[in-house]
Amino acid sequence: MPPKLNKNVLILGGSGLLGSHCVQYFSKNYNVYWTYNTLKNIVPNGIKFSFFENLESLSEIFNFTKPDIIINAIGLVSVDTCEINKKHAYDLNQNFVEIIVSTLEKLKMTRTFLVHISSGGVYGKRIQGKDTPWKETDNLNPLSVYAKSKIGGEKNALNYMGPKLIIRSDFYGINDLQRKHSLLSWIIHNAKNKIPMEGWENIFFSPISAKKLSKTIDTLIQNNLTGIFNISSTNYCNKFEFVDVACDTIKIKPILKTNEVVSKIRPRYSVLSCQKVKSKISFECDWKEELKSYIRRHYS
Ligand SMILES: NC(=O)c1ccc[n+]([C@@H]2O[C@H](COP(=O)([O-])OP(=O)(O)OC[C@H]3O[C@@H](n4cnc5c(N)ncnc54)[C@H](OP(=O)(O)O)[C@@H]3O)[C@@H](O)[C@H]2O)c1
Repeated sequence: MPPKLNKNVLILGGSGLLGSHCVQYFSKNYNVYWTYNTLKNIVPNGIKFSFFENLESLSEIFNFTKPDIIINAIGLVSVDTCEINKKHAYDLNQNFVEIIVSTLEKLKMTRTFLVHISSGGVYGKRIQGKDTPWKETDNLNPLSVYAKSKIGGEKNALNYMGPKLIIRSDFYGINDLQRKHSLLSWIIHNAKNKIPMEGWENIFFSPISAKKLSKTIDTLIQNNLTGIFNISSTNYCNKFEFVDVACDTIKIKPILKTNEVVSKIRPRYSVLSCQKVKSKISFECDWKEELKSYIRRHYS
């Protein structure tokens, strides 16, 4: 086993889908601490933290863990819930980031490297011209409260006077810590239980596994790269193809119908360009190969 780097990493939202993958990945090489909110399992180095119940404990957590790196993976992710509970969305996705930044600055911890997880959803809908993969420099045209609150979170992270990295991504995975459904666990559950599913043929995206994303975040940190980065697969698919390949990998024939979805709050085309990350580090991610290998590793 390689020696641990003598660095502390604090993963805010370590019980979530991405956070739990980051905890697993970063624990190989760093001293990892992480927070949870509603998680019931007791797991080493987990710290209870709730924005609505003990926000004031954030300074104590920072003082106790002395993080060289913070990864903020706390968020309200459901696009529909964000529309219904706007305050909750802005509190978690936007205002909390301002509080992280002001707490770090107040504690004079501005050498801490802050990684903030944003979303590929911030790009929204192209106003002019045809669809091409979104670049970090493109204008944002958010369609939902979720996307607007994530843009607010990015702006707050960019105001941090220390080193900061903002990740725009669209990831999948299975959270082994808790039973909350993710896109992938929902697909596999439906396929196994013969529950009919619709595969949206008109929604295009560039999904990456939470595992590969965690690894890529580490590489960016190790290379001291800061600013905004898209991290996604380097090719793309529609949601129907994604469901089809996932089910094919577990060798279950799903009850799958093609369909087209019309939604005012979900972008139809959220394919991200990885040109920037590819120009800085060695990075390649074929969505189909990555999805198959993630599922095989998970179920082996
Ligand atoms: N999922 C995606 O496809 C996707 C795509 C692009 C970007 N993102 C962004 O990536 C980040 C992580 O997403 P995810 O899918 O991993 O989310 P997730 O599985 O829902 O995890 C959210 C995390 O936030 C914690 N949390 C929720 N409410 C909290 C509160 N009031 N106080 C403190 N902690 C709270 C949760 O703790 P408990 O679970 O213990 O309650 C959990 O650790 C989010 O910022 C999201 O916007 C997600």
